[in-house]
Amino acid sequence: MRILFLGDVVGKAGRSAVRQFLPKLRKELAPDAVLANAENAAGGLGLTCATADELLSAGADILTSGNHIWKHREIFSRLEKDRRILRPANYPEGAPGRGCSVFTLKDGRRLAVLNLLGLTFMEPLACPFHMADALVKELDGASSDMAGRSEGERECVRVRLVDFHAEATAEKKALGWLLDGRVSAVLGTHTHVQTADAQLLPKGTAYLTDLGMCGVEQSSLGMDFDVALERFMTRMPTGFKTAAGELSLNGAFLDIDDETGRARSIRLIRENCPSAQH
Ligand SMILES: [Fe+2]
Ligand SMILES: [Fe+2]
Repeated sequence: MRILFLGDVVGKAGRSAVRQFLPKLRKELAPDAVLANAENAAGGLGLTCATADELLSAGADILTSGNHIWKHREIFSRLEKDRRILRPANYPEGAPGRGCSVFTLKDGRRLAVLNLLGLTFMEPLACPFHMADALVKELDGASSDMAGRSEGERECVRVRLVDFHAEATAEKKALGWLLDGRVSAVLGTHTHVQTADAQLLPKGTAYLTDLGMCGVEQSSLGMDFDVALERFMTRMPTGFKTAAGELSLNGAFLDIDDETGRARSIRLIRENCPSAQH
């Protein structure tokens, strides 16, 4: 299965970047599914129904998210009913929506997507390591609650993608190692800067510390430099303003063996990103 996974889509510029670059990438890479982290898609913070629809109609099939997903209340009921939009799985019971879902492609192949939030320098949620372990066991069919499910659902889903939305590199690397050989890919989001460590772990899991972002990369994580600098230089709560400028798109492209769920390759995707040379 060929997967294109895009990093955090930030504001209108991020949505425009997806609209601008995704048709060409779809043609070039012929992905079976396109995923994007949409936690910043509405005005730089959160996701609304309209911005979710914009990304879905631009060619994204599944949207993951992170700590900013709760910014706009209108998305709460959408999270309940639209399985294409995930929020991190380790929020407490009672939080709207779901953090793990199995999707069926048009050709009948299935993939599982798991969205988790890191704890280091972030909210004190349930442990993502234990949560990942339990959810992967459930996908393996080892959990007793599989008994009540239909025959089709009981069949093991081999292609499994994890969006680990976390701040700390150490935490991301450790989760990758925990899940090596048990999921197809562990891909980091949240820090908005693409890392250069795309790799296949020893047991066949593709790993990347951060996918990067879609939007104005020459910015402070998608936010206007002047406003960000004022905040850093005065230490006053100045709020946020999304940046304007050249559009970029960051993500990764994966090729996964359907039978084993092991990744064959992962490569970085960088469209129109600032260059190291003039
Ligand atoms: Fe983000
Ligand atoms: Fe985030």
